[in-house]
Amino acid sequence: MKVIVIGGNGTIGRPVADALAARHEVIRVGRTSGDYRADIASGESVVRLFEAVAPFDALVSAAGLARFKPLGELTDEDFAFTLANNLMGQVNLVRLGLKYVGDGGSFTLTGGVLSTEPVRGGAAISLVNAGLEGFARGAAVELPRGLRVNVVSPPWVSETLEEMGQDGSRGMPAAEVAAAYVESVEGRRNGETLDARDFGAS
Ligand SMILES: NC(=O)c1ccc[n+]([C@@H]2O[C@H](COP(=O)([O-])OP(=O)(O)OC[C@H]3O[C@@H](n4cnc5c(N)ncnc54)[C@H](OP(=O)(O)O)[C@@H]3O)[C@@H](O)[C@H]2O)c1
Repeated sequence: MKVIVIGGNGTIGRPVADALAARHEVIRVGRTSGDYRADIASGESVVRLFEAVAPFDALVSAAGLARFKPLGELTDEDFAFTLANNLMGQVNLVRLGLKYVGDGGSFTLTGGVLSTEPVRGGAAISLVNAGLEGFARGAAVELPRGLRVNVVSPPWVSETLEEMGQDGSRGMPAAEVAAAYVESVEGRRNGETLDARDFGAS
């Protein structure tokens, strides 16, 4: 399969791309790094990417910026930014990608466990995580040509906690999180949210 991994050099995206590269042709995409550059917050940029690499068999998105702040400090701009990047940026990969993906292809987006396991400061992220899960459920019932869409929901990733100066053992190593993405790409699931903790080694 030809698989596009958006965020393929990121904390989660890199081990996902590495795992898939064992069996598939992987194209890594980032805003500032990778085989191709694209900004998922810009529809024009995404279409340019698809025109350059199409047709493809699977797309994984492990990208999407979001603002983490106490509820009382979240501004209109914080919500607009988070919705445009993390929610609509990823939704638009599916909407715009429909024209370029081959029959039986798949889209795998990245949500997060904050959709159902809220933490202080995470309201904007809980919003987009839950929105992505709803989008995948809704879109799956009307995707044509045997196409599929799923969301992978990672917990805190160990490497990210360590970057934040926290105890990495409270999280899941990115290499283990990658297993859920591989299941979404290579399996038959559609419209599902895959909790990464159900697939990795820990
Ligand atoms: N890490 C965690 O603990 C965790 C937990 C749950 C959910 N998540 C979600 O998982 C996703 C990936 O997280 P991460 O920790 O792997 O992030 P990361 O290490 O910051 O990597 C993000 C990757 O995405 C690319 N990217 C960022 N914005 C982009 C854009 N607008 N268009 C195209 N590419 C873009 C970056 O490319 P460049 O480097 O080239 O700019 C980078 O390769 C995020 O949506 C995050 O909310 C993360």
